Amino acid sequence: MSASSAKTISRPAFAAGRVLSCVAVQADVFLLRLALDDAARPQPGQFYMLRSRPSGVFLGRPISVYRAIAPTQPVCGDDSLELEFLILRRGAGTAELCAAAAGSVLELVGPLGNTFPRPAPDSAKAPGAPARIALVGGGIGVAPIAGFASTLAPGSYDVYAGFRSGAYGLDHVVPARLVLTSDDGSCGVRGRLPDVLDAARLRGAYAAVHACGPEPMLAWVQRICAEAGVPCWLSLEAPMACGAGACLGCTITTRDGNRRCCSDGPVFAGDSVVFDQAPLPAEPTQPRAAQQEPDLSTTVAGVRFANPFIAASGTFGYGSEYAPLVEVGRIGGICSKGLTLEARGGNAGPRLIETPSGIINSIGLENPGIPHFIEHELAAMLQLGPVCIANLSGSSLQSYVEGAQRLDASAVAMIELNISCPNVKQGGMSFGLDCQSASQVTHAVRAATSKPLMVKLSPNAPDVTAIAHAVRLAGADAVSLVNTFQAVSIDVESGRPLFRNVRAGLSGPAIRPIALRMVYDLALSMAALPPAERIPIVGLGGIASWRDAVEFIMAGATAVQIGTATFNNPRALTDCIDGLQAFMQRKGYRTIEDMRGLALPR
Ligand code: SIN
Repeated sequence: MSASSAKTISRPAFAAGRVLSCVAVQADVFLLRLALDDAARPQPGQFYMLRSRPSGVFLGRPISVYRAIAPTQPVCGDDSLELEFLILRRGAGTAELCAAAAGSVLELVGPLGNTFPRPAPDSAKAPGAPARIALVGGGIGVAPIAGFASTLAPGSYDVYAGFRSGAYGLDHVVPARLVLTSDDGSCGVRGRLPDVLDAARLRGAYAAVHACGPEPMLAWVQRICAEAGVPCWLSLEAPMACGAGACLGCTITTRDGNRRCCSDGPVFAGDSVVFDQAPLPAEPTQPRAAQQEPDLSTTVAGVRFANPFIAASGTFGYGSEYAPLVEVGRIGGICSKGLTLEARGGNAGPRLIETPSGIINSIGLENPGIPHFIEHELAAMLQLGPVCIANLSGSSLQSYVEGAQRLDASAVAMIELNISCPNVKQGGMSFGLDCQSASQVTHAVRAATSKPLMVKLSPNAPDVTAIAHAVRLAGADAVSLVNTFQAVSIDVESGRPLFRNVRAGLSGPAIRPIALRMVYDLALSMAALPPAERIPIVGLGGIASWRDAVEFIMAGATAVQIGTATFNNPRALTDCIDGLQAFMQRKGYRTIEDMRGLALPR
């Protein structure tokens, strides 16, 4: 058999489907029914890229067709079609699909991929050869298997289906034999498919096996079919962007070389697929005290925070602005808006624009000046409860030093030295782009204050890790990274740059993976130092959820800052606290240190 012997059958289209209904058939499994106009009828095994309209996710999700039916009462037109999908709710994209309301519209690209080959007619079989085929489905993988079954003659196949809990997707199958397993014993045999099926049961009993399910299950089907000498067809799944064969994101390794899961598959001859033998990474810390309340506290530069969440400078004012909207007292820390010795009016012209998944700002460090902050804002900020951090900026070495001296005499708990603001012509980021100037300003500020000193780094430096070590050696107690990425926006009507300074600072989820990479790189180099020489890393850059925060902590951050996300959800910080607490409880992590740096090589 060749890896691509099954062919793509119908021309895919980019279409809109009207939701007829979407109902739960099991916890987290939904049956979605759509009406499509002018649609090519999909074949069993094919799939569509499905996405809600509008949607919070960027890509469609590949979902196998469960059933395609011509409606009894046409709803759209002569060529209308009803499609049914079984969808497992496992992430943001599938959650949107599972929440689709009747009458809403979904985007579809499809039908895509190849199809299960039909069994050879009896006339083509050798005398005495088995006639029946076995269909094997694991979890949501039962959907294409059941769709295929509904096109076969009743009783010409057996079905083996394994579930975690409760069966679904089997309403339209009419097998000669139906064998079910469930992890919890809620249907069929308590256990897994290998408890009810093996090579001996396949040998001589089946003409072929068609299977769909999680990869370990398919690798097992491949093995027992090889042992039994029974051909098998496996329907695979892989993360993909286009579904059309262009992105090469879903490559499957086969004995004939790389094949695209979307357009060469998803159904492959079983003996052609080479399953990844790489062992899964070891499970991180196992639950040890799942019932115990986790301790979310963390210590940065000798300062204890009740939890690792700090409001990032410039996104939370001085804290009291958000007090009516958020339980501010629950937050670990608050970084003030960037402060300079003297008051600044900030930049003229447009200051803010939304981008896909973020914003670009050109505020220009508007602030009332450090003396005013100390006299008029600080007391209220301290009253709120979280650790109070003053973000210190300057236009010259001298202004940084004088600002630090003023703050040293105040009650702030920590100074965040800002050498990364991209929006000012003098000072700001220019101090943070090379090791010498970063070291010089840190050294000078260090000498001017005995407060814990955290230096906020720019991702626009050619080597942010090198800058971090330069400021560490110059006396920084911690580093926070990253500030905004230099970005440009152009007004297409005027043909002119939107911002007066042309360049401005990009933040938000769009920058998160790059910020995470920078934190990871720095943590890696920090881990190579003797423990006494290491300084803590506070991660920031597009963090919007507890899950994002955990990624930064697992990359080595001791705490995280949340900035732009607050503009999208004023309660982002407190939502993150709740989410982290539940996550730690579920995983049995007792402290932040239990998971800090887990993703670094050990
Ligand atoms: C600004 O005020 O322009 C932003 C501050 C910063 O990026 O540090």
